[in-house]
Amino acid sequence: MDKVRSHEQSKLPATLEQCRRCDLWEHATQAVPGVGPARARIMLVGEQPGDQEDVEGLPFVGPAGALLDKALAEAGVNRAGVYLTNAVKHFKWEPRGKRRLHKTPAQKEIAACHLWLEEELARIQPEVVVALGGTALKSVLQDSGATMKSFMDAPFQHEGRWVVAVYHPSFALRARDEASRRRAYQVIVDGLRQALRLADKVR
Ligand code: URA
Repeated sequence: MDKVRSHEQSKLPATLEQCRRCDLWEHATQAVPGVGPARARIMLVGEQPGDQEDVEGLPFVGPAGALLDKALAEAGVNRAGVYLTNAVKHFKWEPRGKRRLHKTPAQKEIAACHLWLEEELARIQPEVVVALGGTALKSVLQDSGATMKSFMDAPFQHEGRWVVAVYHPSFALRARDEASRRRAYQVIVDGLRQALRLADKVR
């Protein structure tokens, strides 16, 4: 084993909750693991837990989760049948008055946390991965230069499985005007429909 690898190995934590591979744990309530069936055919990957997820210890239970639920229902995808997780498992935030404001994870944090996504991919073996936004896409592809623009047009194959890239639900919530919000939401619904079709096809 070379020096870099043995150093990396020595930092392998026993559990997600004990993970200290980056500093985000220090200001988070807890690590938020993925949830879903042991053999889900579709895995949805978000960015990182938000304020509510950090407190409850579950992914997508806040406002972005509510929009995702709506999109899943519209696409005919059963939320209980998919595996839901995040590229980064601790909430990154900065104080703003009494509120905790979301901060986008840095590349080094995405890379440090990739180990946990790999573990989930190996364990669940989904046929289709839906990357919700740029952070998820970078992590799924392990490519810090990956952009939504280049990958959102059509599903593609990566490491033997389908990947569908769509906007993050928070983007659809926060887009400037109503028309942009509606467009972004529709991209998410269409992507989820596509994921379902692909999962059915591969079966
Ligand atoms: N946004 C995410 O990316 N993940 C969550 O779990 C919640 C909000």
